[in-house]
Amino acid sequence: MNYELDKVSFAYDADVPALDAISFAAAPGERIAILGANGSGKSTLMRLLDALSFPTAGTMTAGGLPVTEQAFAEDAVNHAFRKRVGFVFQNPDIQLFSATVLDELAFGPLQLGWDRALILESVEKTLSLFGIENLRGRSPHRLSGGEKKRIALAATLITEPEVLLLDEPTNALDPESRTTFVNLLCSPRTDDKTIFIATHDLDIAEAVTSRTIILDRGRIAADGPTRVLLRDIELLRRTHLLRSHWHIGPDGRPVAHAHPHGHPD
Ligand SMILES: Nc1ncnc2c1ncn2[C@@H]1O[C@H](COP(=O)(O)OP(=O)(O)O)[C@@H](O)[C@H]1O
Ligand SMILES: [Mg+2]
Repeated sequence: MNYELDKVSFAYDADVPALDAISFAAAPGERIAILGANGSGKSTLMRLLDALSFPTAGTMTAGGLPVTEQAFAEDAVNHAFRKRVGFVFQNPDIQLFSATVLDELAFGPLQLGWDRALILESVEKTLSLFGIENLRGRSPHRLSGGEKKRIALAATLITEPEVLLLDEPTNALDPESRTTFVNLLCSPRTDDKTIFIATHDLDIAEAVTSRTIILDRGRIAADGPTRVLLRDIELLRRTHLLRSHWHIGPDGRPVAHAHPHGHPD
């Protein structure tokens, strides 16, 4: 699905805009990382891309359709859009509501009217794909943060939406689940999906996306090829994305040490 944003702003309160005159176009099948420090507007942008919030200024279309409150007040429009777009929230507690993991996974397919045999088959496949067979009878609300995140990802991916909006998808995942997830996003089954990933996990941005948009206090600080932007140390420093690690200094205390991202070419 293509998106077009023209000087889109969004303000929760009248005074400070969370997004300030954002313009970009995304083509179907593009994979875009939305990077930015805490509070830079990533989640707000993702909510707009999912038509959960609407621009307070500027214009925006998704799949050629105007993203406005009026347009989405039509049930048919809203329903057709939801079928095509899957959103994984930053906070899985907002997303999960079923009594068991099985019900959670079956919910989307049921909504879409899939037949019973297909639902059962897809649920089993998804449980195994995400390595969560052992959680099938558990209540999603009583799982760990990382487990919840995996269930939310699985419940979104099961219906194979054409657009994936992933808000900090690897947050709270253990290293192995993170690898499984990246492999999944890079597997042939997701080849033609349009993907937006809001994150400050630069490794994920590099592995999964070819384009990166960096937000800084609600504005676009950069928009370009991921591999170019992630090597721009000054840009990363300016936008608070430069990663540090620590060495133990001669006095036994850690000394922070910043690196450009990634492996040398
Ligand atoms: N529900 C809300 N009400 C008021 N302000 C909000 C709300 N959610 C986010 N904000 C503000 O909007 C700005 C952008 O937030 P957000 O989009 O969540 O950033 P990010 O996801 O990059 O951390 C921040 O200044 C934040 O405080
Ligand atoms: Mg956020």
